[in-house]
Amino acid sequence: MKIIKNQSLKKFNTFGLESLAAGFEEIVKISDLEIAANYDLPIKILGEGSNILLTGDIEGVVIKNSLKGINILEEDSEYLYIKAAGGENWHKFVLWCIERNFAGVENLSLIPGTVGAAPIQNIGAYGVELKDIFYELEAIELSSGITKTFSWSDCRFGYRDSIFKQELKGLYFISSVTFRLSKEPIYKISYGDIQNIIGDRPLSIKIISDAVIQIRSSKLPDPKIIGNAGSFFKNPVIAISLFQSLIEKHPSLPSYPTDIENSVKIPAGWLIEQAGWKGRRIGNIGVHEKQALVLVNYGNGKGKEIWQLAKDIQADIFSKFAVNIEPEVNIW
Ligand code: EPU
Repeated sequence: MKIIKNQSLKKFNTFGLESLAAGFEEIVKISDLEIAANYDLPIKILGEGSNILLTGDIEGVVIKNSLKGINILEEDSEYLYIKAAGGENWHKFVLWCIERNFAGVENLSLIPGTVGAAPIQNIGAYGVELKDIFYELEAIELSSGITKTFSWSDCRFGYRDSIFKQELKGLYFISSVTFRLSKEPIYKISYGDIQNIIGDRPLSIKIISDAVIQIRSSKLPDPKIIGNAGSFFKNPVIAISLFQSLIEKHPSLPSYPTDIENSVKIPAGWLIEQAGWKGRRIGNIGVHEKQALVLVNYGNGKGKEIWQLAKDIQADIFSKFAVNIEPEVNIW
């Protein structure tokens, strides 16, 4: 066990927030991980810190998943089964697939974070979610050290949700994820501006990936330049009856279908912009000027300040639209 005491987490979270962890260990091989009881303190698992808000110091041990490796497990006439280690960078994995013409991940280009964190919140963008290409994952139960395999249905994926955000929260270390990618691409270009950017060019997974990279880079701040964790809130799923009353007052309110009965999903970014928060800066923190769903740290901001801003936005959206918006990021 190589525990570092009082480790600053500033460079380990994309908000760039200062926070000291009482203990910190980087896992580079599976045998580095010990059972929870051996750590004495509570454990928190970290990937690349792209979906967390650190609101103070951590009194436990932060365990960073740095397991690496990508392998083709098997293939048949239609599919390839690719196993990637949990600590691999997500976008590096996407590019690895695109270079080899393995289809299915192209719409998920440039999402920050690790392969191991991706199933936890079922990452999604531009009409594709991780669940669409997921096959299975291996995770180590922290209490026992036993490795378990979780199938697609075991994971209980939902919109930005899985069993690892619900009853199994904090109990497993995801060591690898196996994806099922296609030899023949099925292009998904109907979301937003993808089609406009591609124009008349012949479709390929590389062209789609490049278009997604272009859209994301134009709207979402680069965490290396301005601290952020992508969308701070989830898009709320609301009752059709509430949607109907909102659309009477706000005819331009967009909406998307959802699997949940008698409900629709509406963009939180739209609500936050209409409520006047877009681009608002409060000292060292604020709401991004191009995407109201993204809260930012301009440098030297505090996690507590961002959390307060989030709560103020939440209360304002509720008072103006009677809609409750919930954080997508994990609050530590
Ligand atoms: N909108 C506004 N104002 C804003 C932002 C958005 O009016 O400031 C409106 C847009 O005009 C559009 C709608 O909201 O009509 C949707 O906007 P956008 O396509 O930018 O996507 P989003 O719903 O804000 C979601 C995901 C993103 C993902 C994009 C693209 C969530 C919480 N966020 O954002 O995921 O990249 O769709 O698929 O579902 C993330 O999870 O961190 C993330 C960035």
